[in-house]
Amino acid sequence: MPKPNPASLPRHIAIIMDGNGRWAEQQGKPRIMGHRAGVESVQDIVRASRELGIGVLTLYAFSTENWKRPPLEVQALMGLLKAFLESELATMVHNNVSLRCLGQKDRIPPEVRKVMERVIRETAGNSGLILNLALSYGGRNEITQAAQAIARECRDGLLRPEAIDQAVLEQHLYTAGLPDPDLLIRTGGETRLSNFLLWQASYAELYFTETLWPDFRKQDLLHAILDFQKRQRRFGKTGEQAKQSSSH
Ligand code: IPE
Ligand code: IPE
Ligand code: MG
Repeated sequence: MPKPNPASLPRHIAIIMDGNGRWAEQQGKPRIMGHRAGVESVQDIVRASRELGIGVLTLYAFSTENWKRPPLEVQALMGLLKAFLESELATMVHNNVSLRCLGQKDRIPPEVRKVMERVIRETAGNSGLILNLALSYGGRNEITQAAQAIARECRDGLLRPEAIDQAVLEQHLYTAGLPDPDLLIRTGGETRLSNFLLWQASYAELYFTETLWPDFRKQDLLHAILDFQKRQRRFGKTGEQAKQSSSH
């Protein structure tokens, strides 16, 4: 397989890690076994992203809607998350990875939140890959929260309504200061966003694959990146204009 061109890698890759439940069902196992197997894909994809020199990797681990799942599945997912964070801390520190969390922190069970905050704290100074875990994350919730924060600043006289522009809104999102995703991957065959990065993904290149998340490995990531590198990003301009601006 050809190698991706290092000069035009996506700066930010976002992934909707879907298909764990179906992976398990196909093998006649309980759904939680699919989530467990999915952790190995997370480890592999984090490693591959780091080796490739990707700046930001955002993984959709749990949506605001996923709270509606059976309590036992939610509990098992939170347990896996805690175990993952505990076991990966040393590796992240060693590999210069910095962990961040996007989502409603206050809904995460306290014992998981504690570990999460510790990993965030201990990796905060790292300058390599930024790993964003989207946890209890919903794009609509994120934008609503931003609107509330902006309204409070206006009420308190810190901001004039006329000064609210796209940059101000961006500063109030969980991803403040980070580049927008260039490439958004969804595994598991569904072709929808499921409330993921609604604002940030407005010009992301979308890549859908039937591969279920527990089967998704470095080779599949490389495949998605190669596909991304074949596309022309026009951002509303004509193909001719886009060719000129990309050659500068
Ligand atoms: C993705 O896999 C993981 C989470 C949403 C937490 P699913 O659990 O949605 O797997 P399918 O879609 O049911 O196969
Ligand atoms: C999206 O997957 C959320 C995550 C991968 C964390 P879902 O499986 O929850 O999405 P829907 O319900 O099929 O849209
Ligand atoms: Mg799913």
